Amino acid sequence: MRFFLDTADIEQIRKVNQWGLLDGVTTNPTLISKTGRPFLEVVNEILEEVDGPVSLETVSLDAEGMIKEGRQLADLGSNVVVKIPMTPEGMKAVRALEEEGIPTNVTLVFSPMQALIAAKAGASFVSPFVGRLDDISGEGMKLIREIREIFYNYEVDTEIIVASVRHPMHVLEAALIGADICTVPYGVIEKLFKHPLTDKGIDAFLKDWEKVPDKPF
Ligand code: E4P
Repeated sequence: MRFFLDTADIEQIRKVNQWGLLDGVTTNPTLISKTGRPFLEVVNEILEEVDGPVSLETVSLDAEGMIKEGRQLADLGSNVVVKIPMTPEGMKAVRALEEEGIPTNVTLVFSPMQALIAAKAGASFVSPFVGRLDDISGEGMKLIREIREIFYNYEVDTEIIVASVRHPMHVLEAALIGADICTVPYGVIEKLFKHPLTDKGIDAFLKDWEKVPDKPF
């Protein structure tokens, strides 16, 4: 499973890249606004740092506007993926952009049928939001299981990005189900490293190391 970082914060992106875990980045208007910085400044920094796909979202509601914005975003870098919301107008835009060779990521997907519609429109990626479903007492990971099965049944190429991830269990379940990608907030990636027995083991090794005579370092 590939790891994307769900952020527009360049420091977080750099850290995760140094850990060797960065396969791509997803942003949205909320994440961009959180930086408090000009859009192009933020995006150009991200595109310079990241080799993998970087999703940048359109904000128009009509297909014509989305296509125009999508082309502008795609011009920013060869690894830009245009993020389009799951609406009928959005699917028109997905079809048009994909025909031009511009990859798309259909966002705000909350049902298996929305995912299938996105795939049939030709989207390169689909982003089902698990955390927001859990927030309203839904079953986020059930959605991923169902999409995985449908895509398997019909040999669909569209890649599943598990989105709206809230905790390490979402990441574990995404991997067990066989999602292609999980887009993870920085705080959750940090938690993936942690295990109390790792910390305890390091403490014990360091204490014992103190007892070794004539140490080289
Ligand atoms: C996905 O690409 C979105 O940016 C993101 O995962 C939304 O997550 P949220 O529900 O935490 O806002």
